Amino acid sequence: MILENVLNILDHNHARRVSKLSMSLARQLGLSEHEIHLIGQGALYHDIGKIAIPTSLTSKEKFNEEDRRLMQRHVEYGLSILSVHTGEEMEAARAIIASHHERWNGQGYPHGLMGEAIPLYGRIVAVCDVFDALCSDRPYKAAWPASKALDYIKGQSGEAFDPRVVEAFLQMMAEGVAV
Ligand SMILES: [Fe+2]
Repeated sequence: MILENVLNILDHNHARRVSKLSMSLARQLGLSEHEIHLIGQGALYHDIGKIAIPTSLTSKEKFNEEDRRLMQRHVEYGLSILSVHTGEEMEAARAIIASHHERWNGQGYPHGLMGEAIPLYGRIVAVCDVFDALCSDRPYKAAWPASKALDYIKGQSGEAFDPRVVEAFLQMMAEGVAV
């Protein structure tokens, strides 16, 4: 399947970890098994639009304003790639692509949605995406220890992230969920 090929070119380990973590978090929040499945599938595609971003940009150690603006376009590219795909899983994927960079306080992109106007699937994946990115090496930073990443997530409750989702995430990590 072409979409799987695309996922393999991208950082598929990140996508799979975010998918698994998002499923665990959805379970912690009491969502149905069906919704947990949709979130898991959809989360795999959250950054699929990065396929259209030049590696000269994605591998940069420092971003300027222009770089940031171009990087943000991975959201619209992702939606465009999945635009002709039908079915519930792809609908979930589109919701996640469209909303995983929105922030609870309305300062995110692409639409600056605020609070519960951001789809729940996107609010769940946003926390898992940031946590995994912080705990991984990136061209611009070394991996953070999990405790530091958890403190960051906690500090962003009510800012970047839905407080209810953060609470469930912290609870889940304290219970030592296997990811
Ligand atoms: Fe993204």
